Amino acid sequence: MRIRECREEDVALLDEHMPSPGAACDHASRFVRHLGGGSTLLVAWRGELPVGSCEIRWEGCRAPEVRAVHPECSEISGLGLWPEALRSQRVGTALIHAAERLVLGRGRVSVGLGVEKNNPRTQDLYKRLGYRPSTPYLDCGSYEDSAGLIHRVADACTFMVKDLDPAGPVQVP
Ligand SMILES: CC(C)(COP(=O)(O)OP(=O)(O)OC[C@H]1O[C@@H](n2cnc3c(N)ncnc32)[C@H](O)[C@@H]1OP(=O)(O)O)[C@@H](O)C(=O)NCCC(=O)NCCS
Repeated sequence: MRIRECREEDVALLDEHMPSPGAACDHASRFVRHLGGGSTLLVAWRGELPVGSCEIRWEGCRAPEVRAVHPECSEISGLGLWPEALRSQRVGTALIHAAERLVLGRGRVSVGLGVEKNNPRTQDLYKRLGYRPSTPYLDCGSYEDSAGLIHRVADACTFMVKDLDPAGPVQVP
């Protein structure tokens, strides 16, 4: 498995092979943020196929109540793996470790991620990787459907935080 930053030609492959991580968060929008420097979009590959992705949002969580508590904390967002048959083969763990290395590379010593309150398995994964629950928040967004209707969504989430050790072992996927 390889992990690298997303390139323009990858977006069509992501659209073809991976569901977007949320209705309000399609691959093209994520790549636009990546190009603009507000985020770094990482893609995991098995052979020629994308099998996972996540985004580091350098300015942190978009929820103001989280940024008020963690103003310096970038966020790993939209972690996803596809197809489901590849779960539990540590692709998600490798993406998180790759993101943590990039965060450390920018001289930052903490990173966070949001997880829905009704997603206990993923919370367990993050706890195993050293993240501690910190701040409850509502992840609010909106998207437009094919008929032009705007839908608002709000998910109850917990922001989890990890202190990174610049002298710690380098995790290689
Ligand atoms: C969460 C996710 C990225 C984990 O990816 P992964 O490559 O399977 O993760 P790893 O192999 O590194 O770790 C596996 C652990 O993830 C956790 N996990 C969370 N959801 C899981 C699921 N549906 N199936 C299997 N494991 C899951 C378990 O703790 C599991 O541990 P185990 O293998 O000992 O049972 C993946 O399950 C996924 O894409 N889920 C749907 C989207 C999602 O929930 N994203 C997180 C948003 S906060």
